[in-house]
Amino acid sequence: MFGNGTLGIVGSGRMAEAMISGVLEKGLLPAQIIASGPKQKRADELIKAYGIQATTDNRVAADTDVLVVLSTKPQTMRIVLNELHGHIHKDAVVVSIAAGVRLETLYSGLDHRTVVRAMPNTPGRINMGFTMWTCTAEVTPEQRAKVAELLGALGKQRFVEEEKYLDMTTATSGTGPALVFMFMEAMIDASVHIGMPRALAEETVIETMLGSVLLAKGEITKKDGRHLAQLRSEVTSPAGTTAAAIYALEKATFRTAVVDALHAAHMRCIELGKLLGGN
Ligand SMILES: NC(=O)c1ccc[n+]([C@@H]2O[C@H](COP(=O)([O-])OP(=O)(O)OC[C@H]3O[C@@H](n4cnc5c(N)ncnc54)[C@H](OP(=O)(O)O)[C@@H]3O)[C@@H](O)[C@H]2O)c1
Repeated sequence: MFGNGTLGIVGSGRMAEAMISGVLEKGLLPAQIIASGPKQKRADELIKAYGIQATTDNRVAADTDVLVVLSTKPQTMRIVLNELHGHIHKDAVVVSIAAGVRLETLYSGLDHRTVVRAMPNTPGRINMGFTMWTCTAEVTPEQRAKVAELLGALGKQRFVEEEKYLDMTTATSGTGPALVFMFMEAMIDASVHIGMPRALAEETVIETMLGSVLLAKGEITKKDGRHLAQLRSEVTSPAGTTAAAIYALEKATFRTAVVDALHAAHMRCIELGKLLGGN
């Protein structure tokens, strides 16, 4: 994976760990990875678990001419940008996965033009993630290929030209898993409420979600596949059980609640970007 170069990771929390495990599975050697964070204890944990290099010095981790990932919380990004300002190798690409942190904030904060903004998600921990990303015009096709390879280690990756979609996908795919988990929890609790033992309810809901997602994916991705509304209609017999359930959800303004949730996350992402220095 991307030759003999080193992957630097600044901020070695949960998403960083998902990335480390993904790139190791794709064949990057442990010696090619160096991660940093404020705590020596965390560095020791990563060295022990993956055999990579780890340090408490962000500048040491960022001292590579290939790829530097910034995976600290957005609220810590200003400190990290100040620390790395003027210290990025001219040939390196910096990939930020922080919610809301805009390309402009990254390149001005680092004084470095080749930057990428990416939004992964937690299913990346099992290589089933979805990462949308964009970059500045200065990132070359060869560098883009390396970034695609890096982000592909978390699952599917999708390049977009327009940065506005990163603010949107922070709501849809970044926050999305939490909403899906909440819906699953509600389905499980509801099944228990109507009398199902919890373990049976969990198995039933997980298999139902998984099967429905795969069915929907098959239809949506095939030529002339059916719309989701048609799949839903197929399950809905006149005066049947599904019709009764859908009536209750519509009455509780389910769709409006989903729109409000994604809108709130989208607005918060834009707000975070402004707080951190974007326009
Ligand atoms: N989790 C998600 O679902 C998700 C999805 C998409 C994108 N993201 C983005 O990914 C980024 C990381 O999220 P996460 O969930 O992995 O958070 P996390 O587990 O809290 O990881 C952040 C890491 O940064 C470290 N850190 C704190 N201050 C630092 C500094 N000055 N220099 C270097 N490292 C520092 C933290 O160390 P300490 O713990 O010792 O403070 C921690 O290990 C965030 O920007 C988030 O927006 C997250």
